[in-house]
Amino acid sequence: MRDLKLIKKAVLPVAGLGTRFLPASKAVPKEMLPIIDKPLLQYAVEEAIESGIKEIIFITNPEKISIKKHFENNHGMETKLINSGKTDLAQKVNPYQFSKIKFHYINQDEQNGLGHAILQAERLIENQPFAVLLPDDLFHSKKSCLNQLLDIYIKTKASVLALNKVDEIDIHKYGVIKPGATDGNTIKIDDIVEKPNFENAPSDIAVSGRYILNPTIFKYLKSTKSDLNGEIQLTDAIKLLLEVEEVYGKVYEGQKFDCGSKKGFVHATIALALKDETLKEDIKNIIKDIF
Ligand code: G1P
Repeated sequence: MRDLKLIKKAVLPVAGLGTRFLPASKAVPKEMLPIIDKPLLQYAVEEAIESGIKEIIFITNPEKISIKKHFENNHGMETKLINSGKTDLAQKVNPYQFSKIKFHYINQDEQNGLGHAILQAERLIENQPFAVLLPDDLFHSKKSCLNQLLDIYIKTKASVLALNKVDEIDIHKYGVIKPGATDGNTIKIDDIVEKPNFENAPSDIAVSGRYILNPTIFKYLKSTKSDLNGEIQLTDAIKLLLEVEEVYGKVYEGQKFDCGSKKGFVHATIALALKDETLKEDIKNIIKDIF
């Protein structure tokens, strides 16, 4: 685990209703649905902790009690498991690495977009650079996506966004950048637009759900006007930030699953099952049988 003492706090917006996953998301928050045996949200939390994050700030809503329960210690369950000799499972219930982390829960009363969600964390961020992880994006790579961004932050002290190339038909789903000077996979961002049409898009390079942001972003989040849907977009605040500070992007190395869609969720489940030594052969055989 790295301890760079640079980025200590991460914001994870989880207040959304998860309507694409109804009825599953009626009583269980979408972020708590499992990819194999672990809630989707835990993958992002583990990625943050692995990068040296010490405080996780969930922007949530009061309905999502199970998120708080999941990241709290459950001593009763741990004791029962230990008493029945299942010590390995006890570690799964109360992972050692969570015991050192401070989890915060901020209720977002109205859901007015990603920018609005991040604004709710301003007081807890205390004017430090911080990470944003959108848990719908599950990354699988040798070096975590956040650690790849940290490498650039260490060199530049500028805000850094995770980037990837997308197909024309998907451009309208993302923030899209206008690339400036490029050094390998590191790109200086000249401009950024939220969810443009393919015809107006400045490139085919989209922003995915990992960011490192300097706290100056809060000033611009506050002056960002709502979009046509009444939402405050982080992308629009980054566009304002670009007028005063450099912002970089990194075309991440690895694989991303968009678990905000059913297709991506199923893809992640199959792909991670095929990477799991205990499941791999069985799953391969099942897939062969199906076809
Ligand atoms: C958000 C951001 C968008 C970004 C995307 C990455 O959109 O607004 O700029 O490209 O996350 O997943 P959302 O997916 O919340 O619509």
